[in-house]
Amino acid sequence: MPAWSGLIARYGTRLDIAHNISPVTLFEGNTPLIPVPRLGERIVPGGKLFVKYEGLNPTGSFKDRGMTTAMTQALADGAKTVVCASTGNTAASAAAYAARAGMSCVVLIPDGKIALGKLAGAIAYGARVIAIQGTFDDGLRMVREASDRAPIALVNSVNPARLQGQKTAAWEVTEQLGQVPDWLCLPVGNAGNITAYWLGFNEDGKDKPRLLGAQASGAAPLVIGKPVEYPDTRATAIRIGNPARWSEAVAALNESNGHVLAVTDDEIFASYHDLAQLEGIFCEPSSAAGVAGLVKSVQGGRVNPDGKTFVCVLTGHGLKDPDSAVSGIAPPVVIPPSTDTFLSTLDL
Ligand code: F0G
Repeated sequence: MPAWSGLIARYGTRLDIAHNISPVTLFEGNTPLIPVPRLGERIVPGGKLFVKYEGLNPTGSFKDRGMTTAMTQALADGAKTVVCASTGNTAASAAAYAARAGMSCVVLIPDGKIALGKLAGAIAYGARVIAIQGTFDDGLRMVREASDRAPIALVNSVNPARLQGQKTAAWEVTEQLGQVPDWLCLPVGNAGNITAYWLGFNEDGKDKPRLLGAQASGAAPLVIGKPVEYPDTRATAIRIGNPARWSEAVAALNESNGHVLAVTDDEIFASYHDLAQLEGIFCEPSSAAGVAGLVKSVQGGRVNPDGKTFVCVLTGHGLKDPDSAVSGIAPPVVIPPSTDTFLSTLDL
């Protein structure tokens, strides 16, 4: 067996799915846990900060962890077609794993509200992409109803097989850090990921971290305690108003003695730029919400960083959303091919 062969080969029956077929895998998981001391000094003085860079999964987001298990289970169950609603990353991941499994894939996306790299992925992997005049929440309702009425397997994180793969991220964090972190910080949208981390930490049976969940302020149902009919944020991955795993997320936050808070788009984008410019780590905007939530929690006195270890989960790669990276930024200076001009432009 190669040194790394994906989550199902690695964790075997610790993942509660069918094991009677070869895994559908793209060798996902095993992403780096990267120390970020320059950023850490600034935002958690006296503490240690790491990021779990999930954007380095095969399709560029953490969704691949749950997709290897969901797609393997769907194939074992005899599915021919899979379906999901998505703000983009689930769509790209489902499309890739369906291709790998030889299945067809249909994805429903909110029209105009998905980042270019995610749409490009879904199309490139051969999915049938359908845009709806509505939100992710509308799409999820539609695919739930459709999968009840037609022979198509639902691979959103309401499917328990998704959590089986996603929970492995908790085990990797503990293994890579050599301990459980004091705090695990992550963005919360449909709340599958926070549910899966908590499942993983609980199954490991070691110490557990406190969970810090961050939602965009225009899409923060868990913070305000009721669904948001028209969620709005530039962090489109977490533009969700009625999370499917709402009650599990609240239970995880309470049991871990953690908290959920709202961060503005400006706060999200400040952390997004800091990660890239202080540490060379390019994540998509939504992924920076966990970092922004940590900044706000420390500044507001809700978290005392001294002597503590923090892990922020960076859920997706920055290249997923090239428009966010360049918007509002002056385009490159254009010069003739002359070294003199080049040097005078540098103004050294
Ligand atoms: N970060 C990114 C980059 C995401 O794509 C998502 C969810 C989240 C965080 C939130 O995770 O939903 O488990 O709480 N994206 C889904 C999608 C909804 O369709 O790709 P969650």
